[in-house]
Amino acid sequence: MSAVQEGKRLGRQITKAVIPAAGLGTRFLPATKASPKEMLPLVDKPLIQYVVEEAVGAGIREIIIITGRGKRAIEDHFDISFELEETLRQNGKLELMESLRKISDMADFCYIRQRQALGLGHAILSAKNLIGDEPFAVLLGDDIIDHPTSALQQMIDLYQKNQAPLIGIQKVPKSEVRQYGVIDAEAAVDGLYKINDLVEKPSPKEAPSNLAVIGRYILTPEIFELLEKTKPGKNNEIQLTDALKELARLRNMYGYVIQGKRFDAGDKLGFLKATVEMGLKNPELGKEFRKFLKDLPL
Ligand code: G1P
Repeated sequence: MSAVQEGKRLGRQITKAVIPAAGLGTRFLPATKASPKEMLPLVDKPLIQYVVEEAVGAGIREIIIITGRGKRAIEDHFDISFELEETLRQNGKLELMESLRKISDMADFCYIRQRQALGLGHAILSAKNLIGDEPFAVLLGDDIIDHPTSALQQMIDLYQKNQAPLIGIQKVPKSEVRQYGVIDAEAAVDGLYKINDLVEKPSPKEAPSNLAVIGRYILTPEIFELLEKTKPGKNNEIQLTDALKELARLRNMYGYVIQGKRFDAGDKLGFLKATVEMGLKNPELGKEFRKFLKDLPL
C-alpha cells in the first residue's frame, strides 16, 4: 500500500465504536448474579448508556456491543419498546416517551455474542468483520469519565491530528498499578506520551511507570492481526494490552492523559462515588440531594 493510500485509510472519520460488555461482573456480586453490570443505574441511566452517549456525542454512528450469556437486557434497552411508548403516549407523558425513543435512535447498534469469556483482547477480535479496514474506538463501560469535553471527543480530536493509535491514560498511585495496563513511555508533543511498551496489571515493582491505561482507545485495524496471534497472558486471558505491545513495535502509538474525573463504576466503592457525584450534578435532583448529604450525621 502506498503512503498516500495508507494515510487515507487511517485518516478516515471514526464512526464505529466497540463496547465490550461480556464480562461476568464478579466485582459487583451479588448485584450482577442475574443482571448485567452494564445495566446498573447511575442516578437514572444504566452505566452503558453513559458510554454510548459519550461515543455518539463524539461522532460515532455505529455501536458494536460485545455481549455474552445473561446480557439480553442491554439489547432491550437500546431497542424500541413499543408497549411502553404506547402506554406513555396514551397517558400523555409525551416528553418521557420522546426521551425513550431517543435511546434507540441514537445510533445503529450491532451485537456480537462472545461465546467464551477468553479476555478483553478476544472480545475486541470478535468485532473484526464489522470494523473492516478503518480506525475505530473502544470504550470500556466500567470507566465513567466526567468532563465538559468527553474523553472520547478529546481523543478523536487528537487522533485527527496524529493519525496514530491512541490510548487513554491517567496517573494512578503506584500502589494501584496492579489493577491496570501500565505504559512505558516518553513525553512527546501535545501532552502525548510515545509508548514504547505496556504491561498488563504489573506489581508496583514491575510497573514501568504510574501511567495507567483507562478504558478509552482509538485503534487501527492492524490490531486484529496482532490479536489473532496473541497467546493467553495475564490471568490466562487474551489481553488487549499484549496486542498493543506488538502494535507499539510496528508503529508510533501514543498515550494521552485524559482530562476529567474518572470513576471505576465496575467496583462497589467506585460506583458509590460516581453515584454521589453524578447525583449532585443532576439538574432535577442535585439541590435536594446536596441538602440531604449535608444533613447526614457524618
Ligand atoms: C482492562 C484492561 C486494562 C485497563 C483497564 C482499564 O482491565 O485490561 O489494561 O487498564 O481495563 O479499566 P479490566 O479492568 O477489565 O480488568
